[in-house]
Amino acid sequence: MSPHHTAAAAGAGDAPDGADAPILPAGQMPRHIAIVMDGNGRWAAGRGRPRSAGHRAGQKAVRAAIEFCLRQGVPALTLFAFSSENWRRPEGEVRALMELFLRALDREVRNLHKNGIRVRFIGDLDAFQAPLRERMERAQALTAGNQALTLNVAVSYGGRWDIVQACRALARQARDRDLDPERIDEALFDRHTTLSDLPPPDLFIRTGGDQRISNFLLWQLAYAELWFTPVLWPDVDAAVLTRACLEFAARERRFGLTSEQVRP
Ligand code: FPP
Repeated sequence: MSPHHTAAAAGAGDAPDGADAPILPAGQMPRHIAIVMDGNGRWAAGRGRPRSAGHRAGQKAVRAAIEFCLRQGVPALTLFAFSSENWRRPEGEVRALMELFLRALDREVRNLHKNGIRVRFIGDLDAFQAPLRERMERAQALTAGNQALTLNVAVSYGGRWDIVQACRALARQARDRDLDPERIDEALFDRHTTLSDLPPPDLFIRTGGDQRISNFLLWQLAYAELWFTPVLWPDVDAAVLTRACLEFAARERRFGLTSEQVRP
């Protein structure tokens, strides 16, 4: 690992001994991890603090997850930061989250870039005000050529939105006579969804104790392994992510086949 893969990405000080050691052979690690970062509000409530304090604390866990993927060679990480439904939260909480995203972008993008991380935002970016949208676009442009890790941040995102926007794009092509509807198959549809240039998530993690997908990557999660933990997002660290990956590697993924067919 190059020196700048350590503290710079995480801003978290020196790596503890052994943190760089692979936890699994490369072929057994997920190639793409998707995370619903739940539990910030409860983490804050447990400390008698406002929900926004939980979201701020959640940033440390975001850094830990990025650093974990870099160290362990996971090439893609997708984080659910703000759902299309989150707009309906109390106005003050939405405002605090927007400010937090804005500040996080200003503060972190240079570090992410230095560490070879490609940052992308998926979701209905038009829903954001210009200053935030422009910063997201700038971060994407700056880091577009990086290859150490692709970090997708889902904002104003919904799995149904993703499917509908793919339908709309295909319908437009059909209307303009550029596409015969009979040619629409899973592969073509997939190419119009977000993240189509990446392997689909192998491992879906949800923290905070609830066991549901909550309109995250509905199309892309078709064959993901689902892993749930009661740990609240701000308390997530490399040890929790290690547990998730070890359990992932111990599962038999059959993709509709039989055990005999998939066993080496
Ligand atoms: C869900 O917890 C979390 C969110 C809606 C926001 C996630 C945002 C962060 C972790 C901040 C940092 C992110 C980036 C990408 C800079 P919740 O509020 O639903 O918690 P609860 O279930 O305990 O109420």
